[in-house]
Amino acid sequence: MCGIVGYIGHPEKTIDVLLKGLERLEYRGYDSAGIAYFKDGQINVLKKAGKLNCLEEIVDRNMLTEIGIGHTRWATHGEANEINAHPHKYGKIVAVHNGIIENMDELKKELEDKGKKFISDTDTEVFVAFLNDALEKYQDMKQAMEYTMKRVKGSYAIVCFHEDDLEHLYIMKKDSPLLIGVGKGEMYVASDYQAFREFTNQYVLLDDFEYGIIDKNAWHVYKDGKVVEKKIEVLDEQDSLSNKEGYDCYMHKEIYDIPNVLTNLFTFYEENDTHSVPDYRKYNKIQIVACGSAYHAGCIGKSLFAHFAQFPVEIEYASEYRYQPILADQNTLVIFVSQSGETADTIHCAKKIKEMQIDSLAIVNVYNSTLSRLTDYVYYMRAGEERAVATTKGYSSQVALFIIILREWMKARNTWTASLEQQYQEGKTKMLQAMEPCLKKFEHFSWIKKLIDKPANFFIGRQSDYALSMEASLKLKEVSYLNSSAYAAGELKHGTISLVEEKTPVFAIATDKNTYEKTKSNLMEVKARGAYVILTTLDTAEEEKEVDERMIVPDVGALFQPIITIIPFQLLSYQVAKALQLDIDHPRNLAKSVTVE
Ligand code: G6P
Repeated sequence: MCGIVGYIGHPEKTIDVLLKGLERLEYRGYDSAGIAYFKDGQINVLKKAGKLNCLEEIVDRNMLTEIGIGHTRWATHGEANEINAHPHKYGKIVAVHNGIIENMDELKKELEDKGKKFISDTDTEVFVAFLNDALEKYQDMKQAMEYTMKRVKGSYAIVCFHEDDLEHLYIMKKDSPLLIGVGKGEMYVASDYQAFREFTNQYVLLDDFEYGIIDKNAWHVYKDGKVVEKKIEVLDEQDSLSNKEGYDCYMHKEIYDIPNVLTNLFTFYEENDTHSVPDYRKYNKIQIVACGSAYHAGCIGKSLFAHFAQFPVEIEYASEYRYQPILADQNTLVIFVSQSGETADTIHCAKKIKEMQIDSLAIVNVYNSTLSRLTDYVYYMRAGEERAVATTKGYSSQVALFIIILREWMKARNTWTASLEQQYQEGKTKMLQAMEPCLKKFEHFSWIKKLIDKPANFFIGRQSDYALSMEASLKLKEVSYLNSSAYAAGELKHGTISLVEEKTPVFAIATDKNTYEKTKSNLMEVKARGAYVILTTLDTAEEEKEVDERMIVPDVGALFQPIITIIPFQLLSYQVAKALQLDIDHPRNLAKSVTVE
């Protein structure tokens, strides 16, 4: 979603830092972009609807200016046009904002009653106008920020500067990430360290209700009027900068990263038994809370715990969990799954669980992200930077971590037998060896055209194959915009089968040996109604003649099967989007890090 970058320091660097920072934040998903800087005695604002290249066309990269802020906006209040794009200037203050101001109407009315006028539909313009009004009253920026933060409700990461004060950037944070990048004779601000990591590896993380004043040589952070001592963090080496490495897009490249990511992940957790692990013996309940693909990875986790540990796991979308009674106690472990570690709904639930003093564990990719700091235990996904909006290697490493956690859990409870360890070692070796050939095998699908002009595509499966169906279906619709949905195979006949007509594509995933025959029957039911059936099954299964297409995956054993089985679907989604000439890495309307409710 929205991205923020700010800079104060060397005049020849400012524009370059802002534009490079915005480029690094592009992966988050956005629909307009803008910058503000000081030049010729005034604040200048340049903004454009659309992608960053539209903005870049109107920016002079050689411009000298000592202070500037930039923003990529994912529209919430008001459509994605130039007027609503950030930065917003009101009076003498110009600001960029991530988050949502919930009492915007009340604040706007208060300002309108004083005769203030607005030109955009945004909550951000109201925030800046309110801050500007407070500054006129207090004649002091620090007091104006304190007052504004007391009155504003909602979430915000704000960076702003003042026309008569080119020596300071002012920042405020609540419920939306904000970091200061520490340089020498220069300082950075961003919503995500990717924005400035090319320039500095040192940063300071702001916590909720903190605000700061930054000049080129120093930064000061406050809360409730008092100075807060903050620690300077150093970027972890595992978070290296990623580039396309010759692939046509990040999604393609990131699918090809999977074998290495998984090899390193399993090795890390097998060799590194010093990572902090809960006492798994004490729990009588696990709840998994996540959104999107992370939720689907959680569904695989639930299925693994049921089949191997015979332990019941509850799973909920974070957006639902946050509004329901929390049926958890001191013997519950709540597992949060999130690639970004910044998804607003997931963060909200983690805060609630922390307040209730219930144990929490995060499966998260981004080092030092909000989720990783809110939870008691963290398993880092170690997948490296993921830039395509549609997750691939992130999802695969989340599933892998559920296998790792299952093994640690069962070992702690003395239920991990020698035979399970053998299954684990053999399955892992088979799966890792099968990865590269599997990637090559599914680089091309001759039947893609048969999906493209159909009103609907269906994915069906049972148990973990159902969880895989959900992820396969989501991946396809995310990047190709084809209508697709997933159903538990046995449920199709309870309504949805009425949508199956001549040539409707139905993907049946049947890698689970226990339910293979049952899913096959469901497949025959749709075949009998004219569906175009694509069966995914194991290379050890008998050849199924009745289907139209087959996607045969290597049999790597039940523990690791979900990891390999998703690969052809990730590649299929990429291939369909490519055939449709879509922007694969930045699908319309989607954001990688969903920082609003
Ligand atoms: C967005 C992304 C999805 C992702 C979901 C959860 O919707 O487009 O790919 O699965 O958010 O994100 P998280 O960072 O919490 O895993």
